[in-house]
Order: sequence, then structure tokens, then C-alpha cells
Amino acid sequence: MASSGRKRLSSVGLASAVFAATWAGVFACSTTETSYIEEDDEPETPDAGFDTQPSAESGLGVLTFMPERSYSGYDGTHRFIVPVAVYDSADDLDVTVDDPAAAEIAAKKLTNPVRTDGTTDNGKYFFVTVKKPGTITLTATSQGKRATSTITVADYAPARWAAGEARYENGSGGDPPCTDCHVNGKAIDHSPAALATADDEKIAVVITTGISTSGFPIKIDNQAGGHQWTVTDAERDGLVTYLRSLEPKGFK
Ligand code: HEC
Repeated sequence: MASSGRKRLSSVGLASAVFAATWAGVFACSTTETSYIEEDDEPETPDAGFDTQPSAESGLGVLTFMPERSYSGYDGTHRFIVPVAVYDSADDLDVTVDDPAAAEIAAKKLTNPVRTDGTTDNGKYFFVTVKKPGTITLTATSQGKRATSTITVADYAPARWAAGEARYENGSGGDPPCTDCHVNGKAIDHSPAALATADDEKIAVVITTGISTSGFPIKIDNQAGGHQWTVTDAERDGLVTYLRSLEPKGFK
């Protein structure tokens, strides 16, 4: 349902629109689920977000960080990565972190930079691997211009991840395992590339109420309760932690 995925873009923030559009492209051919977010009264504005950005060739040169604000976590054991992208930079682009002990930055490329509409994503992508809880400020500089991006890193108790992994892979109270729908691009990607702009509470709400991070009820065929799943509080917190620790997909 690539088209319903694109409709959804009209209602999300600029930063998440960029990442959602990226993922819509990455998974355009592999989505086989018949579920979708119903949002037919939304005006269709494919690739909202991209179109408001001057392209690298535009000469307007507004150096931009995407997302400008994201969320991650740290538990001392697992790897938590946030993908970010810089637009309208030149070859002299430099991306730094305010506290080098807080994160590591590595340049990445999209596996498939061509979007569903045929245009190319010119963003320069980076993986930020967080190293401790707190606030990370990234700064991009190019041709005398600066842009910043902030990552809020939660301090996760070590036990959370395992509780999340267990619930992700096992059903509960008649609910199917999350993996039934959310693995290997069978349904929407929700690794950090898609979820990093949502805070922990917003992600928990997706699981416990079925309301998407953009505020719409997720409808699922043959699932009367929609995307509202049976979880204990510990499983809910664990799932948020676990999802944030997934390896971002679609990069090389
Ligand atoms: C029956 C299939 C199914 C199962 C099982 C399922 N999901 Fe989902 N999930 C979906 C669909 C469909 C969407 C929305 C995709 C879209 O954007 O069109 C979704 C979206 C999400 C999102 C992203 C929402 C957003 O706003 O970006 C998260 C997070 C999520 N699911 C977590 C979970 C977790 C955790 C579990 C297990 C407790 C789970 N899901 C089980 C089908 C499922």
C-alpha cells in the first residue's frame, strides 16, 4: 500500500516526512500487508517536506539537518543508532558532536536514494551511535553556514531490552507477535530511521492505543481492535527500548 503510506506524509512533521518518504522508497516493492492508515480526507501531497527544501542545485543553499530533533536511548549494552541527514551542503561538509564521548558519527549512504516519485535524495547521511544518556548536539558546517540537530538520549534500565525483545517475538493474550508484521520489510519499517523523531511516550501510545505517531488510528484488516496490543508496562517500556536498538535499514 505504497500510496496510503505516501498520503500519511501530509500529516507528519517535515523531518519525519523526509525519513518516511525515504522508507516508502526503500520498501516500495516489499510491502505485502493489506493494512493501512485510513486518512482519505487528507489532501494528497506526495513528498511533502522534500518539496519545501531547496535542492542542492537550487543555489539557495539553506544548510539543513534532518531531523533537527530526535530521540534515542542508552542501556550500556546494546547499540542505539540514530540516522541523520544533511541537505544543501558542499564538499567541505563537516559534522561534529559537542561531546565526543557522547556519540560516534559515521558517514553512510542510502542503498537506494531514488524516491518513489523518481527524484533522488541528495542528503548526506550519517549514523550517530550514542554512547551515553543526555543531550547530544550535532553541528554541520559547510561554506561558512551552520545547522544543528539535537538528540535526546534516555537512560534505559538494562532489563528493558530483553523484556522488549521477548514481547516483540512472542504473542500475548491472543495477539500475534510483532514480528508477524514487522520484520524484513514485510510491514512498515520502525527502526530508528522511522521512529527517531517520536519520543518514548508517542511510541508507547502506538502500541497501547493503536494511534500512530502522526495521530491517526492504525487500521488492520481482520483485527477489530486495530493496532492496540496486550502488553504489560514492562513489556511496553521494553518494546520502546528494543525498537530504538534496531539497526537502521536501507543504508550501506
Ligand atoms: C497485524 C500486523 C501488526 C502487528 C502484529 C503489529 N503491528 Fe505495528 N504496525 C502495523 C501496521 C499496519 C502499522 C502502520 C503502518 C503504516 O504506517 O501504514 C504499524 C505501525 C507500527 C509502528 C509505527 C507507528 C508510527 O506511527 O510510525 C510501531 C512503533 C509499531 N507498529 C509497533 C508494533 C509493536 C511493538 C507490535 C507488537 C506489540 C506491533 N507493532 C504489532 C501492523 C502490525
